[in-house]
Amino acid sequence: MTLAYWNGQFLPLEAVQVSPLDRGFLFGDGVYEVLIAYGGRAFEAEAHFDRLARSMSALEMTGGPDRSQLETITERLLADCFAGTKAAAITVYYQVTRGADDARRHGFPKAVPVSVLAYATPFSPFGADQYARGFSAVTAPDRRWLMCDVKSISLAGAILAHHRADLAGALECILVRDGLVSECSASNVFIVKDGVIATPVADHRILNGISRLVILRLARENGWPVEERDITEEDLRQADEVWVSSTSKEIAPIVTLDGEAVGDGTPGPVGRKMRAAFDLLIEQTARRNR
Ligand code: PDD
Repeated sequence: MTLAYWNGQFLPLEAVQVSPLDRGFLFGDGVYEVLIAYGGRAFEAEAHFDRLARSMSALEMTGGPDRSQLETITERLLADCFAGTKAAAITVYYQVTRGADDARRHGFPKAVPVSVLAYATPFSPFGADQYARGFSAVTAPDRRWLMCDVKSISLAGAILAHHRADLAGALECILVRDGLVSECSASNVFIVKDGVIATPVADHRILNGISRLVILRLARENGWPVEERDITEEDLRQADEVWVSSTSKEIAPIVTLDGEAVGDGTPGPVGRKMRAAFDLLIEQTARRNR
């Protein structure tokens, strides 16, 4: 049984009942978060909760769960899932919508509580062999809206992009807006050129990934050259290494882009170094005492 949190109660996920008038269902009017836990311990929970608060505030949503409620919900869901499965990795999904009004109307409802859902499920990250082989990606125009820094549940643009990757048997679809690389359907992008790591600036064009922030922190701590800057489509195609990063993909090296080899067609040395540093953090998380 998957335990869920739904509007103040813990209950089996399949017992959750959502109104057809919920604005998440009708309008995609809501926000979400996904965090990962290793050994039952949440990875970078503070950063995820901060981002959820920023997403709610960007959509002018009030009455959502505060930090301590999120911590309590997360503790309970993780404890239950880990006790039941002992899964090495677990993901926790959180969604907050602007609630269920008594009729469908665009304007913000008055005095309607937000709807809050959260649940945890076991997750299998890619194995070391898959990371060692690398992954493929395709590119496509970025046709999403201009509030990509908000983790909104309105994901049609991302879903269409992801479908392009699925059709090509690729891991991800890298998006290009006005000649510049933004991010992927559900991950951020990094390139390496002549030993320098680069990733697009975190503005309204991308979601500022928590994995992205961890990678930037690791680069700076280790003194590895890193830049947040515009990356042209040409930079992407000429890169020595390309990686994509997300909570579920961690750091995935892209070795084929639109059918062409990236660099020498194998995961590069900078990515391998970064991966090792990231793995250390994962191990520390899994060993952490509550
Ligand atoms: N996706 N960019 C987009 C558009 C994303 O949807 C995500 C994450 C990221 C990476 O963010 P993070 O490192 O915080 O996971 C970047 C989540 C995991 C999802 O949609 O399931």
